[in-house]
Amino acid sequence: MRPLDQFLNLAATAITTAATGPALQAARRVADLLQTPPELAESYPATRLPVCDWLDTAYVTTRPDLAQALQALEPQLPWRTRPISSPDPRFPTSHASARILDPNGLEQRGGLLSGFSLVAPGVTYPEHNHPPEEIYLVLSGGEWWQAGGAWHAPGAGGIVHNTPGIGHAMRGTDVPLLAIWFLLPS
Ligand SMILES: [Fe+2]
Repeated sequence: MRPLDQFLNLAATAITTAATGPALQAARRVADLLQTPPELAESYPATRLPVCDWLDTAYVTTRPDLAQALQALEPQLPWRTRPISSPDPRFPTSHASARILDPNGLEQRGGLLSGFSLVAPGVTYPEHNHPPEEIYLVLSGGEWWQAGGAWHAPGAGGIVHNTPGIGHAMRGTDVPLLAIWFLLPS
């Protein structure tokens, strides 16, 4: 099986198992869309950035089968920085995002967008929002925040569900933050 299929199959099971309430409905939609036959994407070339050195630390807390599948996928990943502004001068070199399901990712499936986010310890990925509903599967430590709520640590295997348009942020703590996100088509 291709490393991408192996990882996404495990991720689909993980999110539908962990999600409850409104997040479960979104998680089931993600799992259904992941069954869509893949279409080609215009992929960025695989790239590794210096911040990716934190991946090995993040994997220590990742569920072993997910970590193994992600390590197999890693050589294909197009890690990039995001053009989001932050008051922290460390931010541009302390985060990375790798799009996997995207017109510029590894492939496309049913309009679902997906990628990995990595944030170094002690660094915050600033508040942002977007119209699509979003599910994160947390793969490591780190903390998460949503407008109107408090910072919390879902822990590896936890779910973060962002309703359409809600402000949200995340940060590495004493450990890096690693997660995969899925943006649902409307
Ligand atoms: Fe988001």
